[in-house]
Amino acid sequence: MYKDIAEILITEQQLRAKITELAEQITQYYQGKPLLLLGTLKGAIHFIADLSRAIKLPLEMDYIAVSSYGNSTNSSGVVRILKDLEGPIDQKHVLIIEDVVDSGHTLHYLVDMLKRRNPLSLRICALLDKQRERIKAVKIDYVGFRIPDKFVVGYGLDYAQRYRNLPYIGILKSSIYENAPRPQDEHRSLLERQS
Ligand code: IMP
Ligand code: MG
Repeated sequence: MYKDIAEILITEQQLRAKITELAEQITQYYQGKPLLLLGTLKGAIHFIADLSRAIKLPLEMDYIAVSSYGNSTNSSGVVRILKDLEGPIDQKHVLIIEDVVDSGHTLHYLVDMLKRRNPLSLRICALLDKQRERIKAVKIDYVGFRIPDKFVVGYGLDYAQRYRNLPYIGILKSSIYENAPRPQDEHRSLLERQS
């Protein structure tokens, strides 16, 4: 186990088994439908890579990058599009592939934005569902694992852009982020100054 990890929450084996299971459900549901897997960068890259290869259907893949976090471990509530998808989605069944749902801000914003582009359908597949009170309610159609309200890294998830390459999901030692500056606080005070 890597030195900054307090505990391995989900092993490689557990990830593999769950992805096979999710892929089977998705394969069933989207038979005969033009499917677009829409991965959220960068956290969902490993998940979409593994999941897409387990889905036994013709499909397309695209990516969207949104930011709601800065370098901190708490949601700022400010969602920004850093990279949009490449084409229209009005002829497609869109399945959003997300790494983790925490406050709900990111997915709420994404769903709202994508619905206005009139996809044939819009569903959500999230690897991790944090057990906490949502600030924004979201309906997740496919859930990998329900996890405690702890900051986790690995298998695509980062803290300050690190740990994405760990092959498992682990709880990050709190000593790693306890003394770090919180960028969204700086951002907030900047906004307050402007208003
Ligand atoms: P939400 O907008 O608060 O639901 O947060 C969603 C996004 O925050 C996710 O897509 C992640 O990028 C990030 N995030 C939330 N919790 C964690 C975590 O425990 N580890 C790493 N990233 C997280
Ligand atoms: Mg994400």
